Amino acid sequence: MITRCSPVTAKIGVSRPDKSDRESRNRMFVLGMGFVGQFFAQELNNKDWVVSGTCTSLSKKKQLEEKGFDVYLFNANDQELLILDTLKDYSHILVSIPPVKGIGDPMLLHGELLRSTLMGSDLQWLGYLSSTGVYGDCGGAWVDEDYPTSPTTELAKLRLAAEEGWLNLGQDLGVSAQVFRLGGIYGPGRSAVDTIIKQSPLSKSQKMRGSRQYTSRIHVNDICQVLEASVQKPSSRNIYNIVDDDPASREEVFAYAWNLVEKKWPGGLKQSPSPQKVEQNNEKASSRGEKRVSNARMKRELGVRLIHPSYKSGLQSIIDQMENPYQSSLLGS
Ligand SMILES: NC(=O)c1ccc[n+]([C@@H]2O[C@H](COP(=O)([O-])OP(=O)(O)OC[C@H]3O[C@@H](n4cnc5c(N)ncnc54)[C@H](OP(=O)(O)O)[C@@H]3O)[C@@H](O)[C@H]2O)c1
Repeated sequence: MITRCSPVTAKIGVSRPDKSDRESRNRMFVLGMGFVGQFFAQELNNKDWVVSGTCTSLSKKKQLEEKGFDVYLFNANDQELLILDTLKDYSHILVSIPPVKGIGDPMLLHGELLRSTLMGSDLQWLGYLSSTGVYGDCGGAWVDEDYPTSPTTELAKLRLAAEEGWLNLGQDLGVSAQVFRLGGIYGPGRSAVDTIIKQSPLSKSQKMRGSRQYTSRIHVNDICQVLEASVQKPSSRNIYNIVDDDPASREEVFAYAWNLVEKKWPGGLKQSPSPQKVEQNNEKASSRGEKRVSNARMKRELGVRLIHPSYKSGLQSIIDQMENPYQSSLLGS
C-alpha cells in the first residue's frame, strides 16, 4: 500500500506491481534514480502510482530504501540485464541514465534485447531525459526544437544518438516516446544557494558555464510537472526543450543567490562573491555553446505553466525551505 506524503525525505510505501496493480494502476519504472529520478518518483508516489527505479551502488540503494523507494541495483554496463524482465510489468519508463564516453547510451547497447523483451509488454509511454547541449553553439540565437542540432563535445554527440535510439525503440514498440532536452537542472540541495552556503570551489564545467552570457536552467519541480503533463498527453517522437523563461549568466545567478543568503542570514558567509566570478575570454567564445533555448512548444503542446519561470523564484523557494545552515556553528562559537 502507498502512503501519501509531500516532503522528499519522508517515508513512502514500497510497492511492486501485483496482478491487480497491473490491471488498475499506472506503473512507472525510473531507470536511474538520480536527482530528477527521485523527485519524480516521489511526485508519482504521492499520486498513487506504483513506482520503482534503479541505482548503481548498494550504499545508495540502502539510502533510497530508507527513504521508502523501491529500488533495484542495476548497472547498464554489466553483461547481465536481469532488470529487463522486470520492466515488462510497468506501463511507463523514464530513462535518466546519461551516455558514457567511448560507449554511448549503455542501455541501448542492449537495444535488440530491450526491443524483444518489451515487445507486447504493458509499456505505453517512454520518456528520455536529454540535454540542450545537443544544439551546440548557436551564437546566442533563440533555439527551438526545429533548430539544427550541432553537438560539439563527444558526450553531446552521444546524447543526440541516444535520443534517436530511444525514439526509434518507442516507435518499433508502438508506444508513445518523447525526448526532453533539459537545461541546467537545479532544485533543493543542488543550486547556487547550496553551492554558496557550502562555499565549495566551482568545478571545471561550472567555470566553463560561468563564462557564458546565457545558460538555460530548469527547476526540478518544473521538470516533474512537464513529465506528468506528457504522460497525460502522449506523443509520437516529440522532442521538447525543458527550460525556464530566463536564460541568464551564471555570474548573475550567483550574485542573486549570494544576496538571498546574505539577506536571510547576515554575516554567515565568510568569502566575498568574487570567487564565483569567471573572467570572460573572447578567444574561447566559439566553444561556449551560446544559445537561448525556447520553451514555447512545451507550453503550447503540453499546456505547462512554469512554477519557476525564472531562477529568481526558484532560488527564493529553495532558500525559503532551508533550515539555518549557520545555526550549529553559531551555537558552537
Ligand atoms: N545536471 C544537469 O544540469 C543536466 C542537464 C541536462 C541533462 N541532464 C541529464 O538529465 C538526466 C537526469 O539528470 P540528473 O541530474 O537527475 O542525473 P543524475 O543525478 O546524475 O542521475 C543519473 C542516474 O543514472 C544512473 N546511472 C549512471 N550511469 C549508469 C549506468 N551505467 N547504468 C545504470 N545507471 C546509471 C545513476 O546511478 P546512481 O544513482 O547509482 O549514481 C543515477 O541514478 C541525466 O541523463 C543527465 O545527464 C542533466
